[in-house]
Amino acid sequence: RPLVVAIDGPSGSGKSSISKEVARRLRLAYLDTGAMYRAVAWDCLERGLDLADGALVEAAARALDLELSTSADAERVVVRGHDVTAAIREPRISSAVSAVATNLGVRDELIRRQRALLAAHGRRMVVEGRDITTVVARDAEVRLLLTASEEARMRRRGAQLGGTQTAEQLHEQVVARDAKDSTVASFTQAADGVFTVDSSDLDFDQTVDAVLGVVHA
Ligand code: CDP
Repeated sequence: RPLVVAIDGPSGSGKSSISKEVARRLRLAYLDTGAMYRAVAWDCLERGLDLADGALVEAAARALDLELSTSADAERVVVRGHDVTAAIREPRISSAVSAVATNLGVRDELIRRQRALLAAHGRRMVVEGRDITTVVARDAEVRLLLTASEEARMRRRGAQLGGTQTAEQLHEQVVARDAKDSTVASFTQAADGVFTVDSSDLDFDQTVDAVLGVVHA
C-alpha cells in the first residue's frame, strides 16, 4: 500500500531530523530533496561554473552523476564518485544553493528524478523539502508543513553547527536563505489540505509524535 509522507518547511524547522525519525518509525524510505539541490551547487562550484549562467547550471543539473541514499539510517551523497555527504553542508554551499534552486530547469530535472525515486520505492517514502506538498508529491497520502518561529529556527541551526557561527552568520544562513527560497516555493503557509505542525514549543520527541499523529489520523 503506498504511503507517501510529504514534509515541507523552512531552514532550521527540524525538518530533516524529524523526517528521518518518522521514516524509521514507519519503516519507509527517506528522501532529502535539499541534498539534491546542494549536490548541484557543489558540482557547479567544483567546476567553477558561473551560477548566474542559467543555461550552464541547468545543463550541469541534467547531466549530474548523482547517487543518493534513500535510507534514514545511512545518509550518503556521491557526485561523480566523490563522497560529498559532508561537503554539501558547508556554509559556502548553503550560500550558493538558492541561486541553483531558483533555476527552473534545475528544478524540472530534480523534480523528475524525485518522482522517479518515489516510483522506484513503490511510493512508500518520507520526502522532505520545500515544494513536496505543493509540486513533487501533491497527491501524497500525508502532506505536512513543519514550521517554527524564526528565533527557534536560528537557535536550532546554531546548535547544529556547533555554536561556531555569529548571530549575523546564522541570520544569513536561516532568514536570508528563506527569503531567497521564497521566490520558488511557498513554504511559509500551508497549501490547501496540508497540515501544519508548529514545533516552536515542542521538543524532538513531541514533534515526532505530532507528525505521527497526523499520519495516523
Ligand atoms: O536543511 P536546510 O533547511 O538547510 O536546507 P535543505 O533542505 O538542505 O535545502 C537546501 C536548499 O535547497 C534550500 O535552501 C532551497 O534553496 C533548496 N531546495 C529547494 O529549492 N526545493 C526543495 N524541495 C528542497 C530544497
